[in-house]
Amino acid sequence: MSKPVRIAVLASGRGSNFEAIIRSISTQSLNAEIVALVSDRAEARALEIARAEGIPALLIPSNKNDEIFETLKPYAPRFLVMAGFMRIVGPKLLHHFRSDKGYTRITNIHPSLLPAFPGLNSYSQAFNYGCKVAGVTVHLADSGVDSGPICAQESFSIEGMTSSSEVEKKGLELEHRLYPKTLNWVLKEEFKVEMNEGRLCVRSS
Ligand code: GRF
Repeated sequence: MSKPVRIAVLASGRGSNFEAIIRSISTQSLNAEIVALVSDRAEARALEIARAEGIPALLIPSNKNDEIFETLKPYAPRFLVMAGFMRIVGPKLLHHFRSDKGYTRITNIHPSLLPAFPGLNSYSQAFNYGCKVAGVTVHLADSGVDSGPICAQESFSIEGMTSSSEVEKKGLELEHRLYPKTLNWVLKEEFKVEMNEGRLCVRSS
């Protein structure tokens, strides 16, 4: 097996996607090494998970976004993996993790079929709109909100569901499968990128 890809995970809260990534690494379905966990919130459960796993748990408060870059330097991550990180990554990080092919080595998971419902409460929005399907997207970050090139998407039917928490429960199960599975090829950077009408586009090969 090739050398594990060094990743730093960024999480603001519960950390269930972080846990799913840890599990996938320990069962060897994801070839990565988590070099640090960064959170902007002291009460984030993700920090506790990291400490319990012996992963460096770094608290960097929200108003000091640029500090992420300096703090992570000694850990030398190749990729940043956002998992419920409620901040936009700053220009310094975008620049530092930019590959010479034009994409950034920063991933995110979002609980909707982007470009529908960027931002907050996406499962609730799908439910409130009366959508018949909801879904999950894994994408690379850019300077916008949930707007970077899409790597993977999966949908699920929400017809007949009676609450947004039901949508969220089903969605989270999907997230925990889709994120590690997608990271497995994205971290290897075995994909092609195209520029289509000014928009960078990832094609898995
Ligand atoms: C997930 O729904 C993720 O898609 C979104 O924020 C939530 C984080 O959940 N970006 P967790 O912290 O991974 O449990």
